[in-house]
Amino acid sequence: MDGSILALRDLKVDLDSLGEVISVEDIHKSFGGLKALKGVSFDVKPREALGIIGPNGAGKTTLFNVITGFLRPDKGRIVYLGHDITGRKPHYLSKLGIARTFQIAKPFEGMTTMENVLIGLLFSKKRNNGFRAGIDDLKREAVSILETVGLYHKRNSLAHQLTVVERKRLELARVLAIEPKILLLDEVMAGLSSQEVEWEVNLLKRIKEEKELTVVMIEHVMKAIMSFSDRLIVLHHGEKIAEGKPEEVARNPKVVEAYLGGD
Ligand SMILES: Nc1ncnc2c1ncn2[C@@H]1O[C@H](COP(=O)(O)OP(=O)(O)OP(=O)(O)O)[C@@H](O)[C@H]1O
Ligand SMILES: [Mg+2]
Repeated sequence: MDGSILALRDLKVDLDSLGEVISVEDIHKSFGGLKALKGVSFDVKPREALGIIGPNGAGKTTLFNVITGFLRPDKGRIVYLGHDITGRKPHYLSKLGIARTFQIAKPFEGMTTMENVLIGLLFSKKRNNGFRAGIDDLKREAVSILETVGLYHKRNSLAHQLTVVERKRLELARVLAIEPKILLLDEVMAGLSSQEVEWEVNLLKRIKEEKELTVVMIEHVMKAIMSFSDRLIVLHHGEKIAEGKPEEVARNPKVVEAYLGGD
């Protein structure tokens, strides 16, 4: 089992032959008496842009924590490219191509933007495959990633000197360096201006196309998630209350109620 799942990271997966990249199956997670997730199930299809919305405390980040191995579910399974990965550790899953950003980005504050991306590259799949890139090759790759996310001009700035937008972009650069197959984005638009949101959505759409990525996006900024997602899932009190095309979901009375009615 271990040998075959590790081989996944080297595999040129034929995305079109796959029904789904990830299946989330009946996930339950409690913190003491609080049931944060109560039987959540859904699939993510190859190259899909799936949006997850829901009021504060709905369980969205907890769900990402379970998928990416930061939390073990009390019940249920996570299946990735046909393999059960439930309970696997984050570093292992990132090697398999599952990358996530954090709601609160945690770069290495005392390092430069460039150095932060270089660290990501050191943990990339190429590196793990025994590809012994020299430092010049890695730097070239880091430069290319920084250009992609629009941070090249800040390559020598220390992470703690970056603005909110720049920190969000560094967080994206860091996960791109892992060469993910699936990218889980937790509120990458928070704190951005309307213009910055538009720029960010376009950037993510471009990266998704170029790298043939599957993306799951948690977001409160409606303009962003409506324009980015092919499909939306709505969580409320740890349950999936709606799923479908963004415009249909936005009109769903249960969803309107969840947002307007508080509880
Ligand atoms: N490690 C933890 N220990 C205890 N309770 C937690 C923990 N993580 C989350 N919770 C609780 O679980 C519930 C779901 O939290 P979660 O962070 O998943 O919500 P969310 O949908 O991401 O909310 P937001 O939109 O505010 O980010 C909340 O009531 C939260 O307080
Ligand atoms: Mg959250």
